[in-house]
Amino acid sequence: MAQYISEEKISEIINASDIIEVISDVVLLKKAGREHMGLCPFHAEKTPSFTVNREKQLFYCHGCHEGGNVFNFLMKHNGLSFPDSARMLAGRYGIDIPDRQMSAGQKRRANERDYFIAINREAGDFFRRSLLETDKGNKALSYLNKRGISQEVINDFRLGYAPDGWNNFVTYCLKNKKSLSLVEKTGLVIPKKESRGFYDRFRDRIIFPIIDINSRIIGFGGRVMDDSKPKYLNSPESVLYNKSRSLYGINMAKDECRKTGIVYIVEGYFDLIALYQHGIKNVVATLGTAMTLEHLQLLKGFIGKNGRVLLVYDSDEAGLKAAQRSIGIFDKGYVDARILKLPDGYDPDSYIFNFGKESFLQASSRALAVIPFLIESAEKKYGLSTEGKIKIVTELSKILASVNDNLVRAIYIKELAERTGISEMAIMERIRQARTKNHTQFNKRFKQSGDTGGPSGSDGWNRREFRIERHIISMMLQFPDILSEISKKNVLEYFEDTSLKAVGRILLQQMGGAGKKVSEVIALIDDKVEKNIIIALALKKEPWDLNARTSMITKFVDFRRNNRNNFILNSVKKAEENNNDELLLKSLIEGNRRLKNLKDSQVKLKKRGLYNI
Ligand code: UTP
Ligand code: MN
Repeated sequence: MAQYISEEKISEIINASDIIEVISDVVLLKKAGREHMGLCPFHAEKTPSFTVNREKQLFYCHGCHEGGNVFNFLMKHNGLSFPDSARMLAGRYGIDIPDRQMSAGQKRRANERDYFIAINREAGDFFRRSLLETDKGNKALSYLNKRGISQEVINDFRLGYAPDGWNNFVTYCLKNKKSLSLVEKTGLVIPKKESRGFYDRFRDRIIFPIIDINSRIIGFGGRVMDDSKPKYLNSPESVLYNKSRSLYGINMAKDECRKTGIVYIVEGYFDLIALYQHGIKNVVATLGTAMTLEHLQLLKGFIGKNGRVLLVYDSDEAGLKAAQRSIGIFDKGYVDARILKLPDGYDPDSYIFNFGKESFLQASSRALAVIPFLIESAEKKYGLSTEGKIKIVTELSKILASVNDNLVRAIYIKELAERTGISEMAIMERIRQARTKNHTQFNKRFKQSGDTGGPSGSDGWNRREFRIERHIISMMLQFPDILSEISKKNVLEYFEDTSLKAVGRILLQQMGGAGKKVSEVIALIDDKVEKNIIIALALKKEPWDLNARTSMITKFVDFRRNNRNNFILNSVKKAEENNNDELLLKSLIEGNRRLKNLKDSQVKLKKRGLYNI
């Protein structure tokens, strides 16, 4: 049963724990002024950019921008869920977590999740029984035998069989008084189009339960036993199953990943099972989707920051695509990644059954890092003639332009220079050109998104024109004495960046209203952008004294108010000049609306005896 922990409990845990103490268990921290510094455990670095602030109880890495409170650290570093990290800290600091303290909404969601997990478990058992204990299942068993899968592995992976027919599982659900409209949300049954009722999603297929780290079934995959299409059918995404976060086999792989510091990533169910059966147990499968940063972060929790990821692919094209896509991910995720391309015609499954474990391990030891892999592929494609070399450098420059880490880029440039005999300088020039191009494209995109609906992009808040807004949020975080002033002057009303505005509101409510500390506020926020804003700005040093702070706020409000009025005045003027009645009307309405809003909010606030947002 999932356990939910109240806000008060979370605050209690945060207040009892010391982030310096917790992080010191795994990172060597040195005191430097107000901060403690160390080497970031989330990305590879030689000089410390990882800071921990005792006063704020926050950590932040200036290199990879990972940050948060003590919970976030444990979740990230140990691959724990939020409740698990809370429990761990509660245990460490001797705090009791009573069992049930959920709001009605939390209770409903928790119940729903628990219900889905229970349904999946029952479905898993149902498929399993029909594989092992029914006549119909014999066909499936012999298919698995034919593919060389052992009984032990069938058990370990809880493989099953969904019988032929449209309503085997539906009937099971009805018999056992399940609510089919709830079962539908797991994807196991589908509502009929023409009439009332439901039918089974998985019919006459080998079933692979997709199991999470906590050994709960979150979804299913099903394979046909002949050539019909689609070959594989997977559960749709649900509250439990998120493709870009889930990895098939993680429950069986995690211990071996920890032990070896290596993880193999394959594409398919059978690939994974085949490697496992041959004793390679540190393997997960992405199930035909591309690997994501979330996958990588999860895996890094197991293989450690110096761990190695080995992507195994069966064809040139798949390997190449994966390599290109993963550049950005590995660059952000800072991990030693290798690409293993198997000989044509083999996938991990057929390779290991044909050539055995030793041969597979040998091939793995020759796997190339991502960039050398791409260089080699380009060499194969273009050859090493002068023209070919130019093409290679052009192609690789585009890719290297997207590598953000200077050191990593320098290493790759050197490698490319050595392999092609083209000078590092010439390559750097190509990369610079590619970067400028990327940059212009990026700016263009940014401007476009800014024109429609305002800068709400994930790092819009970091743009230059919001500098003052950032300062104000940062002041709110560092000098809570300013909060009443912010609320009295309606300062947030004048913010233009939507994220910063949202953060400001939260701070007024939680720090001003509820008197919470920054590290407690962080625990309440799900939105990654908002969380990052708070962490980054809370740790910034704001040099002003109270007078300077107040005067900055006043100036900001005056400036924005004038600007807005000017804007309306200008558009009224422009409309008049151009005889544009429509625009004129719009501008006047907008002007009046603003005036009215201002009055309304003043009246409301006065009524309540306070100024609020
Ligand atoms: P492949 O087509 O390479 O199949 O798809 P495979 O894994 O080698 O399967 P076998 O050996 O023929 O049984 C790789 C993975 O892509 C996903 C599955 O997760 C599959 O294991 N896939 C493939 C689908 O989801 N749907 C499909 O129709 C095909
Ligand atoms: Mn295969």
